[in-house]
Amino acid sequence: MNLEPQIQEIARKISADLIETRRHLHMHPELSFQEFQTTEFLASYVEEKGYGTLERITETGGYVDLKGVNPDSSIIALRADIDALPILEQNEVEYRSKNPGVMHACGHDVHTTSLLGAMEILHQLKEFWQGTIRCIFQPGEERIPGGASIMINEGVLKNPDVQSIQGQHVMPLLPAGTVGFRPGLYMASADEIYIRIKGKGGHGAHPHMNIDPVTIAASIIQELQFVVSRHAKPAIPNVLSIGKVIAEGATNVIPDEVYMEGTFRTYNEEWRAEAHKLIAKTAQNICAIHDAKCEVEVRKGYPFLKNDENLTALARSRAEKYLGTDKVVDLEIWPAGEDFAYYSQIIPACFYRLGTANEEKGLNSMLHTPNFNVDEKSLEVGAGLMAYLAICEANENHNSKAG
Ligand code: NI
Repeated sequence: MNLEPQIQEIARKISADLIETRRHLHMHPELSFQEFQTTEFLASYVEEKGYGTLERITETGGYVDLKGVNPDSSIIALRADIDALPILEQNEVEYRSKNPGVMHACGHDVHTTSLLGAMEILHQLKEFWQGTIRCIFQPGEERIPGGASIMINEGVLKNPDVQSIQGQHVMPLLPAGTVGFRPGLYMASADEIYIRIKGKGGHGAHPHMNIDPVTIAASIIQELQFVVSRHAKPAIPNVLSIGKVIAEGATNVIPDEVYMEGTFRTYNEEWRAEAHKLIAKTAQNICAIHDAKCEVEVRKGYPFLKNDENLTALARSRAEKYLGTDKVVDLEIWPAGEDFAYYSQIIPACFYRLGTANEEKGLNSMLHTPNFNVDEKSLEVGAGLMAYLAICEANENHNSKAG
C-alpha cells in the first residue's frame, strides 16, 4: 500500500498546529534536566490527543508506546530531545524565549514538535503499520552525562527489547525541505580537557627568577597538536582544540598560573583511551621540564555516533521515495558530539539531518548561536518523514521477524 500521499496530506493539514506547538516550546525553553514544564506540556498533549500516556522513567524524561496492528509483535523507537541552552536569544520574533538566558538554540523544539506531529500521523494511520512504536522524549542532551545514558539505564530500550531507533537533528547548512543521511561513522566522541599549570609568578623583567606558566602553556598548546597529527592512525579522524586560556598577569607581570580548557574528539574507543593518556603525559612532561606543577583532567563526554549501515541506507532510500531524490543529500562526517550516540552503541540506529535553512529569509545562523532560527516549513517534513520512516521500518521489522 502506497502511504506516501496520505502521510503528506496529513502532514500538510497539521502544519499550522505544528508551528503553533513549536512556538510554544520555543517561548518556554528549559535547561538540561530541568525540563519540568516541557514534560508536563508533553504529558497533557499526548493525553489530550489520545496517543496514550507519557511513561516517565526519569524526572523529566519519558516515552509513549503507540500501538499499531499486532502491537506485541515488534517494537522500534523514535527519539526527540527536549532541552534548551544557556543562551540569551537575539531573534526579534513574537515567539522569542520568555525565559531570558535560556534558548532553544539547537532546535530541540523542532525535534520535539516533529515527533508530536509524527505521532499524530502514526495515530491516524495505525491500521497500516505493525507492532509498537516507542516515542522517546529525552531530557538533557546538552549536558554530560547526557539524558540518553540515563534513559537507557532506566530501561528505555527494554521491556520489550527495542529493535532499532531513529532520530533527527536540525541542520542550518541544509535548505528547508531537504534531509541528509550518512551511514557508518557520523558524529564524534567529545571529551573535555582541563589543564592547570602552576608556576611561580613575578616581575616580567626577571623570568629567570620565576617559573613562567605562560610560555609553558604555549608549548603545551603546540605540542598537543602532535597527539592528533603524529600519534593517531591516519584512518581515524580526530580533532583537538584549546578554546580557553586564562593567564592573568600584565605587561610586566608573570602570573603564578595558567588555566586552559579544550576539546578532544574522535571515532575510535581504543585510540580515545590512548589519546587521553598522551594528552596528560604531554602536559605533565612539559611542565616537569620547567619545574612547574601540572593538573590535567580529561573528562569523558559522549561516545561516537555510528549510524547502522543497513538501517541508514534503507532510511535514505525511503526518504528519497517520500521527498524525491533531489531533496536527499549525503552528509559529511560531523565531529560534534550528540548523546544519541549512546543508543547507537546498543541497537541499530539512524540519526539523520533535517534541513531548516532559508537563505532569503536570513534563516541560516549556526546551531548554538543567539540568532539561530529555522524555516518552519521544515516541521511538515520533520513530522511527515519521521512518520514515514517509522511506518516503513515497523512493517519491515515485523516482516523480517515473521519471515
Ligand atoms: Ni542538539
